[in-house]
Amino acid sequence: MNADQFKQAAAQAALDYCLAKADTDTVIGIGTGSTVNHFIRLLAPHRGRIGATVASSEASAALLREHHIPVADLNAVDEVAIYVDGADEINRELEMIKGGGGALTREKILAAVAREFVCIADQSKWVDHLGRFPLPVEVIPMARSHVGRQLRTLGANPVWRQGTITDNGNYLIDAHDLYPIAPARALEERLNNIPGVVCNGLFALRPADLLLLARDSGVESIRPRPH
Ligand code: 5RP
Repeated sequence: MNADQFKQAAAQAALDYCLAKADTDTVIGIGTGSTVNHFIRLLAPHRGRIGATVASSEASAALLREHHIPVADLNAVDEVAIYVDGADEINRELEMIKGGGGALTREKILAAVAREFVCIADQSKWVDHLGRFPLPVEVIPMARSHVGRQLRTLGANPVWRQGTITDNGNYLIDAHDLYPIAPARALEERLNNIPGVVCNGLFALRPADLLLLARDSGVESIRPRPH
């Protein structure tokens, strides 16, 4: 199987998981990225079996609407039962780096709201330690240089993703050379405390509850190892 087929296998496993739990009132949170795009396409023929979705990006919302899957405003729903999203890296504690696609802030909001966070990934995303993938940080535009300097004091090599504006109208900085990130929760909190940082791509304070990891041997269900 190629990488895309692995992503599709993980997405199919997530769909089976969601449909087994859902009824026609259930709201499903939808992440962003190529793995989630498979999930959206697979969900389309079953859209009548759920209540609605809430999307973590304009791109995902557009693809959902294209497939006639109802998209609700997060403020208009009482709860999000399951949030399905990919990751750029994920470790044994199901802590993640996310935001390669730039949607980290809305993704983190949905992860916080959802009762259950199901991560879908191909085996290339599974790591012992986070940090080889550059850590995305969303910043208020006027704070770009300040945040860059602060990232340097933490040992990172910050690279502005020039030309990219997030769905929230902000800039993205990718923090390189932070490997190995441990403990991830401490760094996530520290980055959150830099004025001008809107959100960072560490998902450690709220890790996934379940990882559906597509491997050569099939899709494995992995629960977090306790700290
Ligand atoms: C987007 C994300 C994605 O989940 C992450 O980048 C993985 O993407 P893909 O499924 O395309 O590999 O965090 O902001």
